[in-house]
Amino acid sequence: MTASIVLIGAGNMGGAMLSGWLKNGIKGSDVLVIDPGPSEAMAKLIADNGAAHATTAPEGLKAGVLFLAVKPQLMGAVLPPLKSLVGPETVIVSVAAGTTLAFMASHLGEAAMVRAMPNTPAMIGRGVTGAFANSAVTSEKRAQVHDLLKVSGPVEWVETEADIDAVTAVSGSGPAYVFYLVECMAEAGRKAGLQADLAMRLARETVAGAGELLYQSPDAASQLRKNVTSPGGTTAAALSVLMAEDGMQPLFDKAIAAARKRAEELAG
Ligand SMILES: NC(=O)c1ccc[n+]([C@@H]2O[C@H](COP(=O)([O-])OP(=O)(O)OC[C@H]3O[C@@H](n4cnc5c(N)ncnc54)[C@H](OP(=O)(O)O)[C@@H]3O)[C@@H](O)[C@H]2O)c1
Repeated sequence: MTASIVLIGAGNMGGAMLSGWLKNGIKGSDVLVIDPGPSEAMAKLIADNGAAHATTAPEGLKAGVLFLAVKPQLMGAVLPPLKSLVGPETVIVSVAAGTTLAFMASHLGEAAMVRAMPNTPAMIGRGVTGAFANSAVTSEKRAQVHDLLKVSGPVEWVETEADIDAVTAVSGSGPAYVFYLVECMAEAGRKAGLQADLAMRLARETVAGAGELLYQSPDAASQLRKNVTSPGGTTAAALSVLMAEDGMQPLFDKAIAAARKRAEELAG
């Protein structure tokens, strides 16, 4: 028996992927979800779409795509019983941060494998994913995995597995930097004399709106920035601080380097 897609873990990320697949034309009957206790909403999504659900790997089944979306710290316990699902035609896809292909191979055997790093806007179909495929992944399998990953946004393939750590630092963790930017802008607005809740509403809508403008516009971010900046005006005054030698760039260099280093440490 084979199943086209076997999803391991239907939590935040696995659930977002499943719901994206179903919205983008993948038939529920092509999906088996293995999760010991899916949420009520997830159980309903599975049942309503005719997907199959199991709490452990069924015997005698081989997966076309084995999609791993459990917490990295559980991988050591979750992987061994999944080995029976891996056959010569299986491609394994993991979105677990810091779990290397070598670690997966140590439990599942040598196989076609993809390590992918999505980000949380995947929940609304607006994520971006960095992905690395090992040499056993054929171009056909890669296209199949690309199609599965792209339901949550664009997919960027990288050349080395180590690049996934840099992807994690930029886009995997990136949404948190943007949310923190909102917090910083709101706090600075409060210090400039606005009510705290008004400052937060202004900051939040500004970042959300600027993000949407960036999304919809063909222009580069630098051009959109220049469009707001009149010479000698208010924006130029703020940017002279943010773009100073000790401004945002060196801060981001340090932040991204710290995230990358941590990703390397987690990968062991
Ligand atoms: N969330 C993000 O921003 C993000 C971004 C990129 C990558 N990722 C990666 O995505 C993975 C999942 O993260 P998440 O936030 O979606 O975690 P999550 O919400 O905890 O989802 C994990 C799911 O796996 C289930 N599970 C636990 N043990 C299992 C087992 N033995 N077999 C099958 N399923 C099992 C969990 O069930 P219980 O709840 O009952 O334990 C839960 O439903 C992580 O490796 C993370 O690194 C997440």
